[in-house]
Amino acid sequence: TPGGGRPGAPLAHNAAVEHAIDYARYDRIRPIRWTGEALQLLDQRRLPFAVEYLDCADSDAVAAAIRALAVRGAPAIGIAAAWGVVLAARAIEAATAAAAARQLEPALQRLEAARPTAVNLAWALARMRAALTRAADGDWRGALQREAAAIEREDLAANRRMGMLGAALIAPGSGVLTHCNTGSLATAGFGTALGVIRAGVAQGRIAAVYAGETRPWLQGARLTVWELQQDGIDATLIVDAAAAHLMRSGRVQWVVVGADRICANGDVANKIGTYQLAIVAKHHGVKVMVVAPSSTVDMDTPTGETIRIEERDPGELHAVGGSRTVAEGIGAWNPVFDVTPHALIDALVTERGAIERPDADKLRAAFGRG
Ligand code: MRU
Repeated sequence: TPGGGRPGAPLAHNAAVEHAIDYARYDRIRPIRWTGEALQLLDQRRLPFAVEYLDCADSDAVAAAIRALAVRGAPAIGIAAAWGVVLAARAIEAATAAAAARQLEPALQRLEAARPTAVNLAWALARMRAALTRAADGDWRGALQREAAAIEREDLAANRRMGMLGAALIAPGSGVLTHCNTGSLATAGFGTALGVIRAGVAQGRIAAVYAGETRPWLQGARLTVWELQQDGIDATLIVDAAAAHLMRSGRVQWVVVGADRICANGDVANKIGTYQLAIVAKHHGVKVMVVAPSSTVDMDTPTGETIRIEERDPGELHAVGGSRTVAEGIGAWNPVFDVTPHALIDALVTERGAIERPDADKLRAAFGRG
């Protein structure tokens, strides 16, 4: 069973509470739909004002959608890429699984290059490669399709489990602040940090939810508070710069965030601004919880120093909602992730359990090598 008896999984699992969550209410959105013919991606560039799915007919369309943030969030881009491989398989003829693997490799590499920071992308593609290695020659297409479906299914199960494990750490009546979007939109469903928030609200532990806007792409403002609104959960939007003032006011006891890559020593890459939230939280005695599936743990990256941080077009800072706000000729630097050192993290929650004050020894005990 996930986490059962493993080091780093000290929390009791309360099955009765798990069954009490009404997932039909607290998990309504699906960002990725496989029709059997095509991949449909909920175009997150258009939210919250248009709910429209993009049809991706081939793997390069999936790679383009990942690059353009039509689909985003670490687990979701891994799942989309896995289905992208299924689409790539439609475009080739191969008599053996080994021949298919050779022919598909360029498409896999183009998918992998779409975004650099979230390890879930490379992880999902490694699983697809491994599925081909195991596949019978007459069944390699079916093997790929089953693997993509398994990646998606396992992510949803992990999120529901993490929701329970993370919510159990939160004292009744607490306020929480989250950053970016870590919900159904960023995953197979339910969400990571937002899954903990959903479970915490459903259990009556969380009394107030605050979400930072998440400049410049506004994942918090456009996606997170919209998702919570679908569930009937009240959330209060703040400008990112209000976080210190909010924490000083005593309204929040936890910062609850997701992750794009968790290093072997517990350092965490996540949306730009997470690091400063963690520093400010430390100053105010507010706790920091990072919630991510084990697919986000990268035991091959020893510390946060070597993570490649994606830098996007400075043009994202020059305009708001398509209207230019900055004079022509102004430079801008747009790193979209940062690294929070493990010393600033109070709890790391994966589907295998919760690790308090994560460090290299605890990560090694829970995840081993590679
Ligand atoms: O640039 P994005 O929107 O893909 O960044 C997303 C984040 O940083 C999330 O916090 C992270 O992927 C975890 S999502 C469950």
